[in-house]
Parts: sequence; C-alpha cells; structure tokens
Amino acid sequence: MNTYKRFPINFVEGKGSYLWDDMGTKFLDFTSGIATCNLGHVPENVMQAVQHQLSRLWHTSNLFPIENQEKLANLLTSQSCLDQAFFCNSGAEANEAAIKLVRAYSKAKKGNNPVIAAFSQSFHGRTMATVSATGQEKIRAGFEPLLEGFIHFPFNDLNALGRIKDAAPAAVMLELIQGEGGVIPAKQEWIDELVKVCKEEDILLVVDEVQTGMGRTGTLFAYEQYCFEPDIVTLAKGLGSGFPIGAMLAKEAVATAFQPGSHGSTFGGNPLASAAGLATVKELTTSTVLENAITASESLYTILLKLQSRFPFIKSIRGKGLLIGIEIEGEAGNIIDSAQQENLLLVSAGPQVVRLLPPLTITKDEIEDFEEKFSIALERYMEA
Ligand SMILES: Cc1ncc(COP(=O)(O)O)c(C=O)c1O
Repeated sequence: MNTYKRFPINFVEGKGSYLWDDMGTKFLDFTSGIATCNLGHVPENVMQAVQHQLSRLWHTSNLFPIENQEKLANLLTSQSCLDQAFFCNSGAEANEAAIKLVRAYSKAKKGNNPVIAAFSQSFHGRTMATVSATGQEKIRAGFEPLLEGFIHFPFNDLNALGRIKDAAPAAVMLELIQGEGGVIPAKQEWIDELVKVCKEEDILLVVDEVQTGMGRTGTLFAYEQYCFEPDIVTLAKGLGSGFPIGAMLAKEAVATAFQPGSHGSTFGGNPLASAAGLATVKELTTSTVLENAITASESLYTILLKLQSRFPFIKSIRGKGLLIGIEIEGEAGNIIDSAQQENLLLVSAGPQVVRLLPPLTITKDEIEDFEEKFSIALERYMEA
C-alpha cells in the first residue's frame, strides 16, 4: 500500500557502516535503518548466532520455555533496574504491552485508573493505542475515535507539572529524547521534578526507549544518564540489530499484575528473534562499542559545530550519543537529497531537523568520510 514515500535506491548488501545498491554504488549509512542497526550492517557475532539458530529451530511458540528468550530476559534485567521482561515484535507492540500493564496494575491496586499522561511531540507507534499516546496531530488525524485515557502535556515544561499532579494519572509515558518529534532531549531539571511528582503521587514512570535504547545515546539505556529508575521500559529497534524483536521490561511489583492469559504474542521472543537479541545485547555489554559511540559522538559534535559556523542556516545541534539532530532553516528533505547525491544517507526528524544515526561502531575514517560528504552536501544546499 502507499504508506511510505520511498527513495528510489535498491540496496542489496550491507556491511558495517556501508550499504551497496544494485548498481554497485557504495553509500555511507547514517540512518542505521532508523536507529536499528546499531552494530552496523550484518554484524559478525549476531550473524553467527542467527545462523546457528537458523539451522536448529526457528519457532515453537510461547506455550513452551524458550532458552534464548530466558537468557535475553536475564541479560536485560541484569543490565537494568527492571526485573522482568515480555517480548514482542516491534516498538509499537512494546508500548501496547506497557499501556496494558499500566491498566492491569492500576486495576490490581483497586485504582481502576486508566489515565496515562503523555507529551506533545512524542511518538510511540502506529497502532491505535500508541497513536492515542502519541502527541503529534499529524500522526493522530484521521483515525478518530482514538483510545480514551491519554492526556497530553507540554514536554520539558516545569509549569505543567502541577497539572500532571492534578490529573492524577496511573502513569507518565515519555521518551527521554523525543526522536521522531525532532530530537528533543528532556532537560535534567525537568526530569528530576517529574520523577519527584511521580514518586510522591504514586504514578508509574514508563520510559519509551525504543529509539534511545540499546546504546544509541552512549549508555545501554538513556535513563541511566538521567539518574532515576523507571518502572517500565520499552525496547525494539536496536534490540535485534535489524531482526524484528521488541521488549517491555518492568519492575517486579508492576510486572506481576500480568497473569497467564493477560497478554501474549505468537512470535514474541521466538528462538530466532531471541538469538538475534541475545547476541546483540551481549555485544553491546561486553565490547567497547559504547565507548566508541561516546568518542564518535564527541568527534561528530566538533565537526558539526565547525560546520555551523560556516553555514548559518544550521540553527542548533542537539541530542545525546549518536542520536543527533541538526535543526536547520528550510527543508531538511533538501539536505537529505543533497547528501544522497554524495552517497551519504541521512533521515529527517520532522520537517526542519536532519537526524544523524550512524552505527555505534562507526570508525574515525568513516567520520572523516562523513565530514567530506556532508560539507559538500551543505554547500550545494546553500547554493541552491
Ligand atoms: C520512541 C519510539 N517509540 C515507538 C516507536 C514505534 O516502533 P515500531 O516502528 O517498531 O513499531 C518508534 C519508532 O520510530 C519510536 O521512535
């Protein structure tokens, strides 16, 4: 169906930070499949794990224990402040699971409160519940009636915290860096106060780490950098290095509101998907890839600040780790087109933000390649 506006480039092969099209042209990929191929394309360890599993067993269903799924759950919970995991197939599904868990928990506590506070410019997915949670009119419009029980508040606004308190929601749901909404990082001061309100008022904190998780911001989870403990965290994108898998992690006291039959998924965490997830998280937690992401981020910021002084149409540079937004005057799409002419792939985050999402494995030479290509692309944009 006509749901995507696609660029006419047919990619047939990928390795690390590069993709090749069917004409043999090599592209530097600063999209990582929209924050998904965090270890680069076809990472060796994940490929081997998936190939090994591919020759043994693909699928049984969640009627039976799945060894890889249990190992992945143990690894994710040992690396986070969360205790239990539910597996699904995408970010929207992970958020659906979180919304259901909030409602189940509230009911079990006799609160019967289905209200979730979410934020303007947020993005939580394309299913009916996650569209209802999303705070962007362009995503919601035309799909009414939306699901009841979501109230939206301004993001990063200390003055709105009193209103959140008055609304007495069962949970607050947020991205710590709004990705699709324009790469907008939450301010530490605002998070500190929001967390305080949630603690005082017994409101659950649900953090959507579908885009920010799996090392994208320089730590395995972005919440680690904000110094608080969420009750629920959702993951997808980078979790399987491009193999579809999502997860919802929760604190035990919350997770136990789900009982057998409360929720489920045929494919969720199947042996193949879990093999991809397990190998990915092992790599992220035992190699130097996160350190590389931090160093690469510093180098990119130095380059971008230099470019900003050369190109006055660059209004701001923001983000964390390797989730970087370049706010420009004009159309981000024109810069993306110009970059494609240099065989550099970029993605937007709203109409005026160019988003950089290189793999966390990006090397020094590849960053130099980026600088060269991006400078030419910006020059062409300025002259046009
Ligand atoms: C923060 C966030 N949540 C949820 C989603 C939805 O994920 P999916 O497309 O896997 O359903 C996305 C996708 O961009 C996202 O960035």
